[in-house]
Amino acid sequence: MVYSSMKLFLFFLSCIMIIFNHNTSGLVTKANSIGLNYGLLGDNLPTPPNVLNLYKSIGITKIRIFDPNTGVLDALRGHRGFEVTVGVRDQDLAPLAASEEAVKGWFATNIEPYLADVNIVFITVGNEVIPGPIGPQVLPVMQSLTNLVKSRNLPISISTVVAMSNLEQSYPPSTGKFTPQAWEQLVPVLKLLSQTNTPILVNIYPYFPYATDPAHIRLDYATFTAKAIVVQDGPLGYSNMFDAIFDAFVWAMEKEGVKDLPMVVSETGWPSAGNGNLTTPEIAGTYNRNVVKHIVSGKGTPKRPNIGFDGYIFATFNENQKPAGTEQNFGLYNPTDMKPIYKLF
Ligand SMILES: *[C@@H]1O[C@H](CO)[C@@H](O)[C@H](O)[C@H]1NC(C)=O
Repeated sequence: MVYSSMKLFLFFLSCIMIIFNHNTSGLVTKANSIGLNYGLLGDNLPTPPNVLNLYKSIGITKIRIFDPNTGVLDALRGHRGFEVTVGVRDQDLAPLAASEEAVKGWFATNIEPYLADVNIVFITVGNEVIPGPIGPQVLPVMQSLTNLVKSRNLPISISTVVAMSNLEQSYPPSTGKFTPQAWEQLVPVLKLLSQTNTPILVNIYPYFPYATDPAHIRLDYATFTAKAIVVQDGPLGYSNMFDAIFDAFVWAMEKEGVKDLPMVVSETGWPSAGNGNLTTPEIAGTYNRNVVKHIVSGKGTPKRPNIGFDGYIFATFNENQKPAGTEQNFGLYNPTDMKPIYKLF
């Protein structure tokens, strides 16, 4: 999560009536499901085999880990029912961007040993490094990994995870537009992904704009409990902020000539503590239950109606080695006893 993204969401209740046709013909509707992010920044976390048992008990089959952690990947051996997304660590990008040979070495060390018995479906190159100082390292690493999996005919998709701070403008959604830095760093990545129709992974957190301006942004709009349209954007009506953020990104891509690229929501969630009455288990539970229902419904968003997408809740556990405050409290489960913090699954 990137805090600077908050400033991008200082919404005003005005509405620009711009009517565009929307074209979703290139996208394929499929069954959509919920995954969980499995963060490991805690010193009191359950063992990976216990965590996999938890996932099985709640029917979770898609998981995302932030680096090729051997403890988790070893535990996953033989459990091919889990679809696993593995991240390349940000700090590894510089040497990998400099040499295709280094990328082959990284793959041989971190992925090859698991190919036979772990179902790795995505490798994500960097986590929210675009836009930013090391953002330019993402494209060459993605290109090398894309070449590698293609030459080996491996069923692994290569993508990256980006924050909504790539949007210079997002309200109303049809004004969605990338920042100049995103234009340099992200647009070439989107064009690469378009060649193979591989999804871009996006992190969408209505909590952050809401927490920036709770006096003016409605909690029901942020948590999917509004009963009617809150934001009318030309012909498209929004009753929840999640869809509005998602669609702002779709509009921004379209303005760069990237049409119909699938999106996966790699992170969403709401902290259950750390920021007073904005972060209670009740509100976090409401948000997460509703976002899960929304994603599983496959209803899509106003701009991409009936085009479902997968989404991953952040995160499985509260992580005590993250920065103090809300950052430590996005978990669905208490790490020490694996008890749910609120009812979700
Ligand atoms: C939090 O408390 C403030 C002050 O009492 C109140 O105005 C606000 O509505 C509360 N917000 C929520 C989400 O409960």
